[in-house]
Amino acid sequence: MKVLITAGPTIEPIDPVRYLTNRSSGKMGYALAAAAAKRGHSVLLISGPTTLEIPEGVDFIPIENAAEMYQAVAAQISRHDVAILAAAVADYTPSKIAEKKQKKAGDEITLTLKRTKDILGSAREVMDYKGTLVGFAAETENLLENARSKCLKKRCDLVIANDVSRSDIGFDSSENEVTLVYPDHSETLPKDSKEQLAFHLIEIIEDL
Ligand code: PMT
Repeated sequence: MKVLITAGPTIEPIDPVRYLTNRSSGKMGYALAAAAAKRGHSVLLISGPTTLEIPEGVDFIPIENAAEMYQAVAAQISRHDVAILAAAVADYTPSKIAEKKQKKAGDEITLTLKRTKDILGSAREVMDYKGTLVGFAAETENLLENARSKCLKKRCDLVIANDVSRSDIGFDSSENEVTLVYPDHSETLPKDSKEQLAFHLIEIIEDL
């Protein structure tokens, strides 16, 4: 299969020295890319900034912000049988990027943000993607309910839901415990290393 995977955070510049970002080490997405390549699939990894090495045998497009990730996915997705969107994309970005480093001014400042484009939410409607669509959901409450709603609304075949309120799994951690949320049922997998879990997830996605 040809598999597109997004991973890592996006960084949204405020001025030349400051930015907003989301928590993500990229470990989960990179583990999926490595596992898919080892199982013989052709893999394109589109990633925000991380400290990880690009897995062997994987094509790579580096991006920095949510708009760049949207453009890269929109340009590539139709060539792929499967799209797995594991990146932690910023939902908001500064409305204006200051050209110069902003000076301190008063005890409080207000930053105006605008919505970024929802890449997962655009895959079916805007990009007309017909392949297998797998999203992630990082939730701190109502895990199943929120993940099912994402799955149905964004017309995913599967949403892989993480409880990111736990410090032993999810963001940054080397382990993860996920619930597979399909349009009509769900299943929780046992906690495992992100590498082992990635192999299992790729096998499950192959069956889809
Ligand atoms: O990188 P690690 O440290 O290993 O941690 C892994 C992880 C917890 C970051 C990862 O497994 C994960 O859950 N990624 C999704 C994080 C996230 O942003 O979740 P969300 O519930 O906000 O977004 C839901 C889905 O929409 C995701 O597939 C996301 O990629 C996608 N999205 C979100 C916003 C946006 N503008 N465009 C999107 O496509």
